[in-house]
Amino acid sequence: MDKKLLIDLDRVPKHVAIIMDGNGRWAKGQGMNRVFGHKNALTSVRQSIETAAEIGVEAITLYAFSTENWKRPKFEVDALMRLLVNSLKKEYDTFQKNDVKVNAVGNIENLPQNAQKTLSEVIEKTKNNKRIVMTLALSYGSREEIVNAIKNISKKVVNKELSLEEINENTINNHLYTFNLPEVDLMIRTSGEHRISNFLLWQMAYAELYFTDVLWPDFRREHFCNAIIDYQNRERRFGKTSEQITE
Ligand code: IPE
Ligand code: IPE
Ligand code: MG
Repeated sequence: MDKKLLIDLDRVPKHVAIIMDGNGRWAKGQGMNRVFGHKNALTSVRQSIETAAEIGVEAITLYAFSTENWKRPKFEVDALMRLLVNSLKKEYDTFQKNDVKVNAVGNIENLPQNAQKTLSEVIEKTKNNKRIVMTLALSYGSREEIVNAIKNISKKVVNKELSLEEINENTINNHLYTFNLPEVDLMIRTSGEHRISNFLLWQMAYAELYFTDVLWPDFRREHFCNAIIDYQNRERRFGKTSEQITE
């Protein structure tokens, strides 16, 4: 049976964020090097985006490369950057077919020139797509994002464009890379690790967290649906009592 049939289409999370983890361990299990794992991650990405679009998720954000990942061996970093460029080119038709608007968050200026160029081309060409926004977190670190936001807000205060009294949660939201995205409702992490690894700290304040042992290259439509079904079985109380929610 298609797991999708078990999803209540009226209560789908608006924004799903995924920490795509476990490529290295998956490759090791196949007796291959880590890069082989990254190469085999594309089907998982495609199926997740397609399924999200089908069920009516408005935004999906994929953690593809963290600020900390720059510390990996150069050959792996180079391979990841090459894969990024090739995948964006290869998946361009899938984005158009599924009406996917491509977006990116992170310190994009740190990416190699050709990656920046391909990324901005795909973002430009898909900018009018409406069905789902797919955001790639690249050279992304949540703490760095928050530091940037504070600097930009402070500049406005110094320049008297903004007063201290005016600063509220929306001010912070509007100065994050994710300013145009809804709050994260569901965060999925694969590979059995139970941590956030500097991903969307502010944006996940009230997200439901879903952890699975499945390694990212094995993650399929069925697994994505399982996460949504699990999410739908939770009671999001936002500080209230259960009675207040169900009344
Ligand atoms: C996730 O898989 C991909 C990136 C972080 C780029 P890993 O490469 O972290 O795989 P493991 O965690 O070592 O298995
Ligand atoms: C988080 O995975 C970053 C991405 C998935 C891109 P890592 O594998 O880098 O995280 P840690 O090091 O296990 O926390
Ligand atoms: Mg990892």
